[in-house]
This record gives sequence, C-alpha cells and structure tokens, in this order.
Amino acid sequence: MLPESFQQEENLADSSNIIGVLDSGVGGLSVLRAIRSLLPAQPVIFIGDQAHVPYGTRQLEEVQEFTHEIVRFLLDQGARLIVVACNTASVAALQSLRKAYPHIPFVGMEPAVKPAAEQTHSGTVGVLATAATFQTKMYASVVERFAQGVKILEDPCIGLVPEIEKGNLEGDETRRILESVLRPMLDQGIDTIVMGCTHYPFVIPLIQAITGPNVRVIDPAPAIARQVKRMLEINGILNPGESTAPVRFITTADAQRFSQLIRQLLGENYNVESARWKDGRLVLMR
Ligand code: DGL
Repeated sequence: MLPESFQQEENLADSSNIIGVLDSGVGGLSVLRAIRSLLPAQPVIFIGDQAHVPYGTRQLEEVQEFTHEIVRFLLDQGARLIVVACNTASVAALQSLRKAYPHIPFVGMEPAVKPAAEQTHSGTVGVLATAATFQTKMYASVVERFAQGVKILEDPCIGLVPEIEKGNLEGDETRRILESVLRPMLDQGIDTIVMGCTHYPFVIPLIQAITGPNVRVIDPAPAIARQVKRMLEINGILNPGESTAPVRFITTADAQRFSQLIRQLLGENYNVESARWKDGRLVLMR
C-alpha cells in the first residue's frame, strides 16, 4: 500500500492516458456512455463533427479526409488511443488510419452481424446502418463471413440521423421513419436487429415499442467498451480504479446546442468547447 501522497501522484500521472472518441455528431455518445460505465478512471476527449453531420450520405473519400484530420487533432490534444465511434467513419478510414499511425491503438465499429447471425432463431435479421456503410466492401465481407444461411434485411433509415441530431427521439417524424423501416422487416420475420450506426441506440426505446419485446436489438457499445479496455491493457495505458476522470466535449458546430443534447442523451451537464474547420484543418477555439 502506497502512502496517500504517492497514490495521488500516481493518479495524476494516469490522467494523461486519454482516450479520443469521435463521431459525426451525437451518435458516438452511445459508445462513450458504455466506455464511461466500464472505464470511469480513463479521461476522454469526445469530438462530434456536427458541422458535417450526416456522414452517411457523403462520399467515403470525404468522410475519410474528415476522420484523418479529427484523429490528428485528437492526438495533438494528447489522446493515446482512438475510438472511431462511427460506423461510417470506420469503414471509410480505419484501414488508412492504422497505416498512418502504426503506433496508435484504434478501436472502430463494425455492424454486429456476427452475434446477430448466431442469436437469431427465425433466421432473418434486420441491419440498420447508413447508406455509406452498406455500400462498402467491408460490410459485404462481414455478411459474407458471418451470415451464411441467414437472411439479412438492410435499411439506411433515411432521415433518422438528422432527427436524432435534433434530439427528436420519439416525435412524429422519427416514429414515421422507424415504422416504415421496421414494419416490412417484421412482416418478413426478423427476430433480431443490429444497430449498425452509433446514432440509432438512442431510439431503441421507440424501436422496441414498434417491434414488441420478442425482437432482440443489438447495440454494440458494451462490446466496444470491452475491446477498448483490452487495447488499453495491451498497451499498458489502462487506468485502474473507480475514480472519475474528466471528459472534454468538443463540437465543430454550436457548443450550447451540443451541451443541451448531452444533457438530454446522457443526463449530465457538461461544458462544450468549439473547434472550427479552416481550410481542411481543425482548430480549437479559445
Ligand atoms: N453515427 C454514424 C455511424 O455510426 C454516422 C451517422 C451519420 O453521420 O450519418 O455511422
């Protein structure tokens, strides 16, 4: 047992093992929530690129450029591990990021088709992800490898991300979009739905209200948090213990609005900092 003053010093040293978490907007907060609950002692910088949301209807090359610059920015702010808490940014940039920064551990998203295929009894699974995610080879390869003999029904849920960005989790338009996506899937016998976009877990209560309790909804966030923990351990940068490390929130759009959304989605009050895009570079506003 160390004397208290040494323990404090040790804690201070630990506070430098920052995780950088990024998304196009508030979606990554669903992943952040799981990371905080598993790893409270790990400091985090979260950035939502709300100036460019949604990513899911953009060209992958463009999303790749945004993601690389956000990662550079997060590393500059002291991040030691990066969580690409966005399926679209993951399919667009994860491979090239790992090449560009071989010494940095990355955790990315991949639609949870594998657990869904393992758990379905009806043999029919729904996957909700962005249009950009569905068009990639990476997604096709996940289906090819893990969903043999399972019928996969896909839908990009057009318009859903902008509604979630407005904080509209159960209003008329959100309900209309989800009804139109889920009814045909239910008619075809799905018993499992994959959240292949990090925004969508925030509407799980509405999804479950439409599907009823017999359809299983898979939110990958807890599995991602466990993977983050493994990567921190492997790299010797895991902060043990239950003490609560700080989280910094940064948006590329309206800081006050983002702070309201954090309060609504996570139930906590946080100050939000602003960063601005200038000629393809991200600059923190002081
Ligand atoms: N949350 C993101 C994802 O997981 C992107 C949503 C969007 O910006 O279109 O794909």
